[in-house]
Amino acid sequence: MPASTGLRTFDIAPDIAPSQAPGETRSGRTAQRRTLLQLTDPHLFADPEGQLLDVTTRRSFEAVLELALAHSPPADALVLTGDLVHDESREGYRTLRRLLDRTGLPYYCIPGNHDSRPLMDELLGPAALGPVAARELGGWNLVFLDSTEPGREGGRIGAARLAALRDAVAADPSPAVIFLHQHPIPVRSAWMDKLRVEDGDELLGICDRHPQVKALVCGHIHQEFEHRIQGCRILGTPSTCVQFAPRQADFAIDTHAPGYRELTLLADGALETRVVRLDGYPEHPSRTAGGY
Ligand SMILES: [Fe+2]
Repeated sequence: MPASTGLRTFDIAPDIAPSQAPGETRSGRTAQRRTLLQLTDPHLFADPEGQLLDVTTRRSFEAVLELALAHSPPADALVLTGDLVHDESREGYRTLRRLLDRTGLPYYCIPGNHDSRPLMDELLGPAALGPVAARELGGWNLVFLDSTEPGREGGRIGAARLAALRDAVAADPSPAVIFLHQHPIPVRSAWMDKLRVEDGDELLGICDRHPQVKALVCGHIHQEFEHRIQGCRILGTPSTCVQFAPRQADFAIDTHAPGYRELTLLADGALETRVVRLDGYPEHPSRTAGGY
């Protein structure tokens, strides 16, 4: 099922938000607790047995998806924050769509540096969001930002997307979460920090000027991460396949199991979140790998 909540949406040019009663969304629905499940960096292949550093990525993605659906409150939507397919194959995206459709939930996808934007648009349809898109859920403004540029591993948002993001956030006073692939601040791993969002300070400036932005949620770093800058949390999430060790000068694998992030959006604008991992996973990435 392509991502759709049936509620207000926009891409790039936001609507002007009309006034609304407290506790009521613009669509008239009573605001309530909503749950999003973030799955990131599945790195799927056309070959269902395809491996990244000795981990069969389709198998680990299916295991994490099954865990997420079983061990979190009923989800309102799934969010996939990039590196969806590792080999830029049509079959990889078809597989992803098939697996996500099977959940019966709306889902939203943004690209990572390993993705093909044209193939995402072709094969994921309206679930492929960006360059800047917003979706309303339970009185929250969910903003999806494509932080990638073709041919670059690191992120860069650029003036046009920053302007659209500014509009998307400024147009809506509702509590907001911004999803993107690359991390906007250093995570204290020198090799990885070279690949962060180059103009992350501009992004942080938007959050600073709009305190309704409660969190920036990214993928890319293949590890759990949390930092707070004033009222805005910067959250990183384990990959559904291979994990990277935190605070390393050079590329290094971690032994933690794959996992996902649960995000609970409360009607009063509070955000609760936790990372949930598989209870062990039989495949272990090659620790001698020098990169991927
Ligand atoms: Fe990745």
